[in-house]
Amino acid sequence: MSALLTVEDLRVTFPTRTGIIEAVRGVSFTLGRERLGIVGESGSGKSQTGRAIMGLTPEHGVITAKRLDFNGIDLLKASKAERRALRGKRIAMVLQDPKYSLNPVMTIGRQIVETLRAHEPVSKAEARRRALDMLAAVQIRDPERVFDLYPHEVSGGMGQRVMIAMMLVAGPELLIADEPTSALDVTVQLEVLAILNRLVAERGMGLIFISHDLRLVSSFCDRVIVMYAGRIVEELPAARLAEAEHPYTRGLLNCMPEIGADRHPLPVLERKAEWKE
Ligand SMILES: Nc1ncnc2c1ncn2[C@@H]1O[C@H](COP(=O)(O)OP(=O)(O)OP(=O)(O)O)[C@@H](O)[C@H]1O
Ligand SMILES: [Mg+2]
Repeated sequence: MSALLTVEDLRVTFPTRTGIIEAVRGVSFTLGRERLGIVGESGSGKSQTGRAIMGLTPEHGVITAKRLDFNGIDLLKASKAERRALRGKRIAMVLQDPKYSLNPVMTIGRQIVETLRAHEPVSKAEARRRALDMLAAVQIRDPERVFDLYPHEVSGGMGQRVMIAMMLVAGPELLIADEPTSALDVTVQLEVLAILNRLVAERGMGLIFISHDLRLVSSFCDRVIVMYAGRIVEELPAARLAEAEHPYTRGLLNCMPEIGADRHPLPVLERKAEWKE
């Protein structure tokens, strides 16, 4: 399988007045046309890994890597204009908080139409039709009505689906989805996962699925990376998660309550200083 994305020794740091924050500390992985899950506790560097690939690291952040290659394009050498052209068209990212990614003063429909037209020379009518189709695809029941609403007029879960529609409308080859279903109820969550699944299977899209939810990731993804304090501590095929060896991963697995099991007190996650080394 040829790699869609190659990441080697990726580091993201933020200089601050009180010292350097090392958000990502030497992350390496390759991605094919498959579903790769990234799990790890809050602050472990999942979002900053995704943002570095997308070219959306906050202004003051510093990125270094031995390699950051998307389909033969060296992302480290790409100019700002080249990165912008890739973003939204060939690499898309569903950000963790859709509130900050949707433009509050533009209707939902117009945002999706403009995203598409920025990347493809389609007519206004065609763009509108594709935007409506995409809204329907993410299970928005009344696409015509939602098309004309502003972001503040929809619920959090709907905003998240609108974001997903916007990110998928131009047909990206790589989608980075950062907690894309965490604000959705379980049935809608499953529908959104089914859409993502179809895109991977039918169009050969590569998917990086970031989540806290080890159970969800292990059932949905092909492979899972476990991050801890800015590093990858373990990488496993999803089906073999039960064989995880790292004590942090084992701890996460032991914390998953089993439905129908007797209630035991939830174990407390252990954290050892040496795991950070
Ligand atoms: N803009 C920023 N400036 C400085 N430090 C930052 C910035 N954004 C993130 N960090 C730091 O980088 C580290 C990794 O953050 P990141 O957002 O990648 O975590 P995460 O794994 O996505 O967590 P969560 O599960 O809560 O979303 C954290 O220690 C965080 O404080
Ligand atoms: Mg995050």
